[in-house]
Amino acid sequence: MTVIRKLAALRKQIAIWRSSGETIALLPTMGALHEGHLRLARLATKKCDRAVVSIFVNPAQFAPHEDLARYPRDLKADLALLDDIGIDTVWAPSLAQVYPENFATTIVPAGAALEMETQFRPQFFTGVATICTKLFTQVTPDIAIFGEKDYQQLQVIRQTVRDLDLPLKIIGAPTIRERGGLAMSSRNVYLNAEQRALAPMLYAQIKTIAGKIAAGGRIGPAAANAAKALTKAGFKVDYVEVRDAATLGAVKTRGDRPLRVLAAAWLGKTRLIDNCAVK
Ligand code: PAF
Repeated sequence: MTVIRKLAALRKQIAIWRSSGETIALLPTMGALHEGHLRLARLATKKCDRAVVSIFVNPAQFAPHEDLARYPRDLKADLALLDDIGIDTVWAPSLAQVYPENFATTIVPAGAALEMETQFRPQFFTGVATICTKLFTQVTPDIAIFGEKDYQQLQVIRQTVRDLDLPLKIIGAPTIRERGGLAMSSRNVYLNAEQRALAPMLYAQIKTIAGKIAAGGRIGPAAANAAKALTKAGFKVDYVEVRDAATLGAVKTRGDRPLRVLAAAWLGKTRLIDNCAVK
């Protein structure tokens, strides 16, 4: 496995692969890799001839008061994990490679980016859409893989790729969960024992909402009851929403289109997000 830190070296490597007709998969990450990432990385090795994992903690998607400084970083451990599963190249650019002096262009997504995460993290999707567009133009992958755990992010990236005619396919991969149902996340390391015990309740409530709606229940009361139950148990709820699964637009009734339940809530200083489909 090669670790590349300079764009010129990355482009040289990509050109060699392309000249022999090989296809390329990209898995964008911010490191602190866990089993959820590793499943996506294994998928990348299966889908294309070459698999690139990017590791870059992107400051542009953190607000000043957020956890950028304490975000878990362990490049050595990440590289050891990736080497074991047959990743060809890790793209680990420096901050100066990604945001050189006088960097002044951003992608500002609307549509699927409006509301939910954006209400609480206004800078987030501009940061994500900008870095992902850069990663796509740097690596020029045939496919890029994103976990469904960050479902709004996945839909925003799909929208960006479609709107800008970026020549790659976005693959959404199912959320990997711990026993008990908690979605795997790099931020789970922040949870203390008590919070960890409570955390699976978020997904349990999301599934309860999905089950009620699938059985013909009303959307508004199902979401409101779940938010109430989470608050009572000690979560600070940012949102519990039922949305059109593709556009993430608001919905009041079941209708024919696929729906998604999405929620974000705090346990102490740790923010958890999760979602599931209404079947
Ligand atoms: O999901 C993440 O880890 C990040 O938002 C991403 C997609 C790597 C962009 O920095």
